[in-house]
Amino acid sequence: MTVDLLFRRIDNLFTMQPDLGGGPLGRIEGAALGLIGGRVAWVGADRDAPDAAQVVDCSGMIGLPGLVDAHTHMVWAGSRAAEFEQRLGGAHYSEILEAGGGILSTVRATRAAGEGELRALAEDRLRRALAQGITTVEIKSGYGLDPVSEAKMLRVARAAGEAVGVRVLTTFLGAHAVPLEYRGRREAYVEHIIAEQLPAVVGLADFIDVYVDRGAFTLEEAERILRAGIAAGLRPRVHAEQVEYTGAAALAARLGATSADHLERLDQAGVEAMAAAGTVAVLLPGAMLYLRDSPPPVEALRAAGVPIALATDLNPGSSPVADLWTIATLGCLSLGLTVEEAVLGITRNAALALGRPALGHLGVGAAGDLILVRPPLGEPPLVSSLVQRLGGHRAEVVVRDGEILWRAPR
Ligand code: NIG
Ligand code: FE
Repeated sequence: MTVDLLFRRIDNLFTMQPDLGGGPLGRIEGAALGLIGGRVAWVGADRDAPDAAQVVDCSGMIGLPGLVDAHTHMVWAGSRAAEFEQRLGGAHYSEILEAGGGILSTVRATRAAGEGELRALAEDRLRRALAQGITTVEIKSGYGLDPVSEAKMLRVARAAGEAVGVRVLTTFLGAHAVPLEYRGRREAYVEHIIAEQLPAVVGLADFIDVYVDRGAFTLEEAERILRAGIAAGLRPRVHAEQVEYTGAAALAARLGATSADHLERLDQAGVEAMAAAGTVAVLLPGAMLYLRDSPPPVEALRAAGVPIALATDLNPGSSPVADLWTIATLGCLSLGLTVEEAVLGITRNAALALGRPALGHLGVGAAGDLILVRPPLGEPPLVSSLVQRLGGHRAEVVVRDGEILWRAPR
């Protein structure tokens, strides 16, 4: 066999495939990985490596699948720094939203922003994601809340992904908040989402999401909107059980959602419904930290066998956190995950949350998304050396679909 591109002498390769041996992260010491046609074609011990057209020496480095950030609101304009101060002063996130601030203040700024301005902001955020080793990002709309602005956000998300090289999956979130022009007319806004926004975004979105919560949407409204999205060919996901318990996680499970996200108020019935349906739990410790919230029931999720993913929830208000490695560390410190669970949460399980099982691991046939990271000076080449430190890690090499997208200047 001759591969197109061969990565040799990787100190430790974490394949996320326990079936290859090497514990829960499928670690291969002294590894090589070969790619053909953008996919993983060979993986194993360096001494057995096949011939190759091009070879990259990876001595001193850790290899991992490209990281997956499965929940972001990365396209926005404006600032919410003043709201941060308001919340430090005791105001509640939902009260600020109910008073027309929070998400709605970002809606005003994002509606007003031109497509070029919005795209420059999104590209900058995506370049920073790529430098960390993130090769796949989910981006939601939800700061437009009208057909033109929602479509604008989703176009910007996809165009920014194309420009930077990160694989972007998009989610229509017209049901993020009731905009001010529909205050007191919720029923009419739900109708507007289904009849006007949804047709404007079909073809621009992969998923549909609803924020079910106090100050946002009810369970009944969510079911109508999600069913309309499913009928239009979008896959459902849900912002569930964040500020108040609503039963949204069980709804997500019942509708075949790929994930239910947040889950700070999740109950046992919700855990069991998710386990039975194979719904991934996407936990967002950045939002938990910034809203000074308590953690979701991790032990119950683990006991029920619900796959756990971790994501940044990058947005200007509840989680202005762009660093997925920081999120992995917070997953350990504030949610009680093990290092292995945290790393699976930003790779294999994050890919499952997006319904993309070819991503987030490095078995033969998987997508050719590989990153190489040098451990901090003096640390062994293990993932714990990265997760122990709070963020700031940069990939030295980033490969997406078999193409080298980024190589750190030496
Ligand atoms: O996932 N909780 C609702 N939506 C976002 C927050 C967006 C915002 O505050 O702008 C979230 O945390
Ligand atoms: Fe969110």
